[in-house]
Amino acid sequence: MTEDIKEVILTEDKIGNMTSKIGEKISNDYKGKDLVLIGILKGSVMFMCDLMKKITIPCSIDFMVVSSYGNATESTGKVKILKDIDFSIEGKDILIVEDIIDSGITLSYVKEYLYLKKPRSLEIVTLLNKPERRKVNLQPKYMGFNIPDAFLVGYGLDFAEKYRNLPYIGVLKEEVYK
Ligand code: IMP
Ligand code: MG
Repeated sequence: MTEDIKEVILTEDKIGNMTSKIGEKISNDYKGKDLVLIGILKGSVMFMCDLMKKITIPCSIDFMVVSSYGNATESTGKVKILKDIDFSIEGKDILIVEDIIDSGITLSYVKEYLYLKKPRSLEIVTLLNKPERRKVNLQPKYMGFNIPDAFLVGYGLDFAEKYRNLPYIGVLKEEVYK
């Protein structure tokens, strides 16, 4: 698995420090609110897990399964909800937890969809952001790292469902997907 990685860009330590900082900010900003974290599976699995441990105020969690990629490295532009949230979020303060925002198409779709459920607030926390690749206007409230335009795997991120279990984030060698 590691032989397919060209370069490690974020180590487990670096990710951990950033996650702690974001968790602390969220805990301050959402004091007294009705916080619900909604993780977008499967990519957000590791970030969600580490982030929620760093949130020190009461919160609930839920998950959605959304697909837009198939087995390619670029979004197809078609977003499908494969699993919806389980309970009402009306009047609640929602934070969508995402691994990476690339074109922004997936999350802008999810955001519009969740708005219809009448939350009090609806914001995004993403570990990674590829700002140069944005195709729609979408601004996360919390963001870990701005990263260059390369295809990344590890820490939940996959290529064709593999590499999610790497504890770090690395650039996938081009010969693996070309
Ligand atoms: P968007 O709709 O183009 O913003 O795509 C967002 C989704 O694409 C993320 O939730 C990831 O699952 C996936 N994605 C985007 N860039 C990468 C990458 O570099 N590696 C792995 N998955 C990615
Ligand atoms: Mg994803």
